[in-house]
Amino acid sequence: MSSNQKIYEGKAKILYTTDNPEILLTYFKDDATAFNAQKKGIITGKGKINCTISSHIFKLLEANDISTHFIDCPASDKMRVRRVKILPIEVIVRNIAAGSLCRQTLLKEGTILKFPLVEYCYKNDSLQDPLLTSDRLLLLELATREQLEQIQTLALKINDILRNLFNQCQITLVDFKIEFGLDNHENLILADEISPDSCRLWDQSQTDPNQRVMDKDRFRKDLGKVETAYQQVLERILADQG
Ligand code: TMP
Ligand code: ASP
Repeated sequence: MSSNQKIYEGKAKILYTTDNPEILLTYFKDDATAFNAQKKGIITGKGKINCTISSHIFKLLEANDISTHFIDCPASDKMRVRRVKILPIEVIVRNIAAGSLCRQTLLKEGTILKFPLVEYCYKNDSLQDPLLTSDRLLLLELATREQLEQIQTLALKINDILRNLFNQCQITLVDFKIEFGLDNHENLILADEISPDSCRLWDQSQTDPNQRVMDKDRFRKDLGKVETAYQQVLERILADQG
């Protein structure tokens, strides 16, 4: 396959081929969407910030024996990744009640959960990414039982590592979404990105429910200062790195 061919364009990233069929180049866009792309905008500098934050996090996870698709960053908004087959499952881990968990239950935003909650959504725009039960996921053959068990274990381990990282940056990891892929040997590999687009992050120095938001909820809820918040997350992570 020839290189530099666009093979996929998502809401926030574009994937290109490279001269190695096993490697893809991801370009992180400044485009932002919410509510299944009903709301659209641009967060200036987001591509570079999210690519840099994601690569930092992937490196940290690799150092903790978690396989990720990350290879390197040839530019601040470009990441070379291992080519994987993405499972159509959004894996969500929650530590504190927010977002759809509050809308779908009587839990109040900010309630500390008794244990980290691992949830699965069907990655399907036309169905608006509905919540899945484990049995529905298995029935639809989105993953095998063994893969599902492995995903749950990995998701909880990733949560521990990320909570610790953000806590050192005086940021509370409320919840996050991750995606997995399979390599040629059917190994589970963490893919996609981990950034303020895919996490809820609250500034521990702020108590006001709007002021503390450092993630895409600023864009979703029109809270303003979106770029500043993303930049702050990056700066704190880099400062923590020392
Ligand atoms: P939710 O509370 O809206 O279900 O979101 C849970 C987490 O998943 C939150 O950190 C934001 C993230 N997320 C995505 O990354 N992509 C999405 O499409 C949605 C709906 C949420
Ligand atoms: N990423 C999703 C979308 O645009 C939703 C979200 O992050 O809120 O549509």
